Amino acid sequence: MSVSDFELFQSWRKVLDLCALRPGQAVTVLTSADTNEQTLRCAILAVRDKGAIANRLDLQPVNGGTSLSRDPLAYVGTTPLTGNRPALEMLKASDLVLDLMTLLFSAEQHEILAAGGRILLAVEPPEVLVRLTPTLEDRARVLAASARLRAARGMRVTSAAGTDATFALGDYPMLEEYGFVDRPGRWDHWPSGFLATWSNEGSAEGTIVLAPGDILLPQKAYVTAPVTMRLERGYVRAIEGGYEAGHLKDYMDSFGDPEVYAVSHIGWGLQKKAHWSVMGFYDREASIGMDSRACAGNFLWSTGPNNEAGGTRDTACHIDIPMRGCTVTLDGEAVVVDGVLVED
Ligand SMILES: [Fe+2]
Repeated sequence: MSVSDFELFQSWRKVLDLCALRPGQAVTVLTSADTNEQTLRCAILAVRDKGAIANRLDLQPVNGGTSLSRDPLAYVGTTPLTGNRPALEMLKASDLVLDLMTLLFSAEQHEILAAGGRILLAVEPPEVLVRLTPTLEDRARVLAASARLRAARGMRVTSAAGTDATFALGDYPMLEEYGFVDRPGRWDHWPSGFLATWSNEGSAEGTIVLAPGDILLPQKAYVTAPVTMRLERGYVRAIEGGYEAGHLKDYMDSFGDPEVYAVSHIGWGLQKKAHWSVMGFYDREASIGMDSRACAGNFLWSTGPNNEAGGTRDTACHIDIPMRGCTVTLDGEAVVVDGVLVED
């Protein structure tokens, strides 16, 4: 159900406080054809309320004629900023970019951040933004987990369904998503609350078995029968199972790019206000499924690009796969047991 402008305005104020937005700073709100009008309206009000300058940059949508899905995360890499130098310079000159469009996995995003910019993505429906308004506790939980992940040299994931996979770690940075951008060069996503990194190139090995109830994104589908994915030398080499396995393979093959099968980020959910059940209540086009990605105790892994981590793989297909009931260990020490967070 809907939230009032007042509620969403209050959430934006909290988020801008957490972003340490100061009077006189310049904020650019990045919008496109699918931007939520209420989110935009309340963001601009909250920016003005902080005494900051509110600009709006509205860009033309791209990829719609190519992608098989309407989900903004379904076709990544090419954005309305590609080859668009004036727009890019405006964003680089801003103290804070509020991305209500979905500028993700792009060289342009990298350039903005490298120039010291900050980008906060916020494209979930208003009521999800309000329910999952970030807090300082979210950051503390993510950063504590990140310290452990950064120190680890290997991750192993097992499950009663038959998963047993290993990943070597240490070559790529941490992806610490806690929902706000509190320092220059930082990108984050409101809502979130999870931690990830990328396994060392070519190191992902083993078997991952999706159990009924596990989730495929951007399909936004709960798997109804086991899907077995065999990992070798960093790539998914086989996908076996019923209808969902075939659907997944058909979709990935449609990109005509073998790199779509590379293992991308791996990590686990830390957000206790996010819920597994939420996706089942939403139309597929209404949300991008952040509850599924962030909910506490999931194992979230993915396929596709690694350019947001500084890698060179920029394939357009990105599949996020949140799994329940897994045990995740770092150098033999559990951080999630049977889908439940190990609390320190
Ligand atoms: Fe992802």
